[in-house]
Amino acid sequence: MEHLGTSPLSDHLKLYTQSAHQQLEKKLVMNMKQITTTAGYIKLLGLFYTYYHILEKNLQPHLNIPDAGERRKADAIIADIKALGGELPGRPHDVPQPVVSNYAQALGAAYVLEGSTLGGIIIAKMISKQLGIPAATGFSFFNGYGDATVEMWNKFRNFLNALPTAQHFAAAEAAKNTFLTFNEWATTYESVFEV
Ligand code: HEM
Repeated sequence: MEHLGTSPLSDHLKLYTQSAHQQLEKKLVMNMKQITTTAGYIKLLGLFYTYYHILEKNLQPHLNIPDAGERRKADAIIADIKALGGELPGRPHDVPQPVVSNYAQALGAAYVLEGSTLGGIIIAKMISKQLGIPAATGFSFFNGYGDATVEMWNKFRNFLNALPTAQHFAAAEAAKNTFLTFNEWATTYESVFEV
């Protein structure tokens, strides 16, 4: 943290969560390589849904990011599962989550959810290629904001970077804990990939 200086918070969060991101990416890619059926893909959506819907609900009272309505992700996952003819997963109670009890923590966690739209596009391409179908129906979640994804990311980063310095540490810890808890949940959920 002492190297924070005056660099934007977004740069700091990227560095601070880099190894957690790499770990998660590695795990997801390994698992995604085994997905060869729509049922397998629906289970992957279920992994994201069970984690994201809780986190989005927990963030909501603490922050109001620009275009919040458009940014909601659990709704897109539900739409995708339905479009693919799947069943919504249950809502397990033991899903690990970061502590989110103030604005800075909520912003740090939102950084992870918003940043995931960047990797999501890669995931959409990988899965659609493996299933031999276009990344159209059933891919609204992983396709993020489509052509507007980078623009939406930049907008979010500007918003993030307005956080007062005194709150940077809380945001960074929450961002890291978001990666760690999602990673933990992906490990717990791993059996779902065995379809
Ligand atoms: C197969 C899985 C994934 C791959 C291949 C992947 C790949 C990437 C890539 C290439 C970027 C950089 C894009 C750019 O700089 O233009 C990125 C950024 C990011 N990803 Fe992922 N990602 C994956 C999964 C995830 C997941 C599941 C999350 C969160 C739950 C996540 C969170 C982030 C965040 C927060 C950033 C922004 C980093 C920054 O501050 O610039 N990623 N990802």
